[in-house]
Amino acid sequence: MRCGDTAGVTLQLSGITVRFGAVVALEDVSLTVPDRGIVGIIGPNGAGKTTVFNVICGLVTPQSGTMTRDGQPFRPKPHELVRLGIARTLQHGGLFESMTVLDNVLTGARDQARTGIGSALARLRRAAGESPEVRERARAMLSDLGLTAYADHRPSELPQAVRPKVALARALAAQPRLLLLDEPAAGLSAEQVDELARLIASLPRRRGCSVVLVDHRLDLVMRVCQEVVVLDAGRVVTRGTPDQLRDDPILAAVYTGGDDDASA
Ligand SMILES: Nc1ncnc2c1ncn2[C@@H]1O[C@H](COP(=O)(O)OP(=O)(O)OP(=O)(O)O)[C@@H](O)[C@H]1O
Ligand SMILES: [Mg+2]
Repeated sequence: MRCGDTAGVTLQLSGITVRFGAVVALEDVSLTVPDRGIVGIIGPNGAGKTTVFNVICGLVTPQSGTMTRDGQPFRPKPHELVRLGIARTLQHGGLFESMTVLDNVLTGARDQARTGIGSALARLRRAAGESPEVRERARAMLSDLGLTAYADHRPSELPQAVRPKVALARALAAQPRLLLLDEPAAGLSAEQVDELARLIASLPRRRGCSVVLVDHRLDLVMRVCQEVVVLDAGRVVTRGTPDQLRDDPILAAVYTGGDDDASA
């Protein structure tokens, strides 16, 4: 199942500055996410990575800078995100702990049905109960990600490696054209990161999405991203392809601060 027949989005951030009081969370940050590209954002704790996502999602308004989507000025409101084809996973999982895995994924599928082209029809059907199409989409997503066996489990009962996949399934059930992943590999073993890498790398081709990946696991980021932006204290200190960055002394210096999450 693809996320619609349309292409991904091209997203451009130019000169974004965000301050929280005296804290400069982002300073003059620019980045481009090409259509169906995968761009990585890395950097130590507090570098501003999640703030970039919050800007893209309209949760934080920058003091300066601009965003465009497919070349048009772009200032989304958080409630418009699903309609605009943007989905994100949250740092630390963000699953609904009181719901089953299927219900978690249904929330993503349902949001999309509410705002998608068939929304009027979906609203009519909802009056008579859950739309079968929505349930089918959620189940297909579980099957696609190898999660069917966990459909009736609650998040607290899941193995650590399964939780990020459920978060991913929920985001993908909204059929996004731009997917923002915030530390999906936290707590995973090398083998589990390997599987996640294959999954993320397949998203542009299989689902037509552009992807922005934030993670401390440099092995994952270097493997799946075409371009990687390195943030430190809110500034882009270096950027490039994984090959360009591997020998970049600035990247090494950024991670010599003792961030033991990082594993190149
Ligand atoms: N809503 C907020 N109010 C005040 N300060 C904030 C807010 N959000 C972020 N910050 C600050 O902005 C800076 C960047 O935070 P951000 O969460 O974007 O970093 P990060 O790179 O995602 O870090 P981590 O790797 O720990 O997730 C930090 O100094 C943080 O404390
Ligand atoms: Mg963060």
